[in-house]
Amino acid sequence: MIYLDNAAASWPKPEVVYRTLGDFLRRTGASPGRLAHRMAMEATRAVEETRSKLARLLGMTDAWRVVFTASATDALNLAIKGVLSPNDHAVTTVMEHNSVRRPLRALEAIGVAMTKVPADDRGFIDPAAVRAALRPNTRLVAVTHASNVNGAVQPIREVAEIVHEHGALLLVDGAQTVGALPFTLADLDADLLAFSGHRALLGPPGTGALVIGPRVDPSELSPLREGGTGVNSERDIQPQELPYRYEAGMLNTVGIAALGAALDFLNQVGIDRVAAHQRALTDRLVRGLRGIPGVRVLSPDDPDRRVAVVSFVVQGWNPADLGAVLDQTYGIACRAGLHCAPEACRALGVFPQGTVRFSPGFFTTEQEIDQAIAAVHELARTPLHLA
Ligand SMILES: Cc1ncc(COP(=O)(O)O)c(C=O)c1O
Repeated sequence: MIYLDNAAASWPKPEVVYRTLGDFLRRTGASPGRLAHRMAMEATRAVEETRSKLARLLGMTDAWRVVFTASATDALNLAIKGVLSPNDHAVTTVMEHNSVRRPLRALEAIGVAMTKVPADDRGFIDPAAVRAALRPNTRLVAVTHASNVNGAVQPIREVAEIVHEHGALLLVDGAQTVGALPFTLADLDADLLAFSGHRALLGPPGTGALVIGPRVDPSELSPLREGGTGVNSERDIQPQELPYRYEAGMLNTVGIAALGAALDFLNQVGIDRVAAHQRALTDRLVRGLRGIPGVRVLSPDDPDRRVAVVSFVVQGWNPADLGAVLDQTYGIACRAGLHCAPEACRALGVFPQGTVRFSPGFFTTEQEIDQAIAAVHELARTPLHLA
């Protein structure tokens, strides 16, 4: 099997991730608790080590500002619903995943207004359009760092400058970039950064985080839920200190421990090298697909402005059919359709059928890319309706 669905979940994982999952459950699988028995303290240590590793990765001095969540969706919901109140205005873009689009849409029911800025036919937004969309009551601007449809990397720093001049907060959806590109929170100048552990970070599903930048006062960000934290248990209100303010209930300790092992692996390899590998594979893939008659590749041309998420359509093929044949006949695992980002597909001119998406990962080889290109070449010669 050729696995080209790393934008949904990276696979395989480094061996150490599988090992840590098993070992942790066997030896350490207790509920964290600082003042408890040895296994509980060991579980706490594992969680806090992963938190510190994520903080280091993103250049944060205060690890408590890394809040664990179950996924990027969970982190985005916390940021969006935690910041916005009735009569607030939010700005977002048409390139967003449903995990930004839907929470914002749901908040309209409580009186939050929203403006979406458009994208060009390569999926890029114009920072000037963000400026034009701001209103006096704009509290939050939510922008994806890189599109999960075509890999377009947005000009986040330029957007950040505009947002901060206005006094609003910038939420960046890093689901497709954290672990894939080397950057810190300060490089982006973002206030809130949401991401998952199971993509480029090579961790297991069920892990993610919201990073709360130094400009955000936690009192501006309400928790989504209240509950047990193991601290200040005598009180009936949620502790205000980070990360307990947002981490009520049992954490995914086993997943977080394995994410820590994945981070060690990535650090040993070096994120620069990971990014260079993925960039070379993406260049090869884009070039190969562009050379096939009848194939339209939707990725940006500039390798500096894209990640390893490549969408394309093939003349005469419905993307869903093409994806199914690639899987069943060629053993190529990829995605087809709207990728939970219908408005991005519309901006790219491929709504409602969507695209076929190839997303190489850390373990993808050049040979696999060439095989995938050859398969598309063969299929492009035999459109399904003619076959
Ligand atoms: C850009 C983007 N944001 C958010 C998400 C949601 O991530 P999760 O599956 O971790 O909830 C995805 C998922 O594919 C994504 O691609």
